[in-house]
Amino acid sequence: MESFLRGLFFPMTLSDLRSRRSVRAYTSQPLEKSVVDAIKAEITMINTVEAGMRFQLILDDAAPFDGFRNSYGLLRNVRNYVACVIEPSYPDTYQRCGYCAQQLVTLAVSLGLGTCYVGGSYNADLTSAQLRAGEKIPFLIALGYEDKGKETLIAKVGKSLTHISKKRPADILTSDVSISEIQANRPLLYTGLEAMLCAPSSMNRQPVRVQYRQGEILAKVGSGSNSDLIDLGIALFNFQAVYPGVWEWGNPARFFPDDSE
Ligand SMILES: Cc1cc2nc3c(=O)[nH]c(=O)nc-3n(C[C@H](O)[C@H](O)[C@H](O)COP(=O)(O)O)c2cc1C
Repeated sequence: MESFLRGLFFPMTLSDLRSRRSVRAYTSQPLEKSVVDAIKAEITMINTVEAGMRFQLILDDAAPFDGFRNSYGLLRNVRNYVACVIEPSYPDTYQRCGYCAQQLVTLAVSLGLGTCYVGGSYNADLTSAQLRAGEKIPFLIALGYEDKGKETLIAKVGKSLTHISKKRPADILTSDVSISEIQANRPLLYTGLEAMLCAPSSMNRQPVRVQYRQGEILAKVGSGSNSDLIDLGIALFNFQAVYPGVWEWGNPARFFPDDSE
């Protein structure tokens, strides 16, 4: 058996997960000390437990975002971010990086912060992250207090990046059981699928698919690209947040529920 993901440290509901959406405009208010301490503690735990992961919280550094413009998303006044630094030679690093990042994002949201994954909309040469030989930064997580007025304008511009999924659980599931039977008899599985559908994904592509056959739950992405594997890890976290159990890393990843429903 391969390594298993670790458990969660705070209780979560589907509505908690649904309350997260990408925030692309921030105020200049510095992060409160208690918030910084909580995020640093979580990062220390991730970096200690997970091989090949060296996440770094960078405060008050707008340089990678200042003056950066491209067609993907429009970020305003990002001053704080987590550089998700990985050493890709370790197994399943991209998938684990996505999972751990989503754990951090969910914590940040519970602390009142806005967040946005940023894979492309920044200047990689200008981050203050410390990189050792062989390490990479697949994405940053922007963090801060939302500037609500600006956010509304940006949301209008970037309609294609809306966080509301048009997909339904049936659209991401293949199964030997009908979706109505799953909804009635396997409510945790159904909620897990709903949790996956509110997970962030690169370009809002939502590439993760779930297979439920003969009682076995598998989640996978088609291409196995680094970007898809990150999205898979993020979706695995959301699923596990509402359905207690553990995922075995890999593509496909296999789910082991704590108790059978
Ligand atoms: C790995 C990853 C990279 C992303 N990179 C960017 C980015 O460079 N710029 C941006 O504006 N949004 C980026 N996003 C945010 C997605 O566009 C967003 O999650 C998706 O549109 C769904 O919207 P929601 O997060 O509001 O639910 C990224 C998301 C992920 C998961």
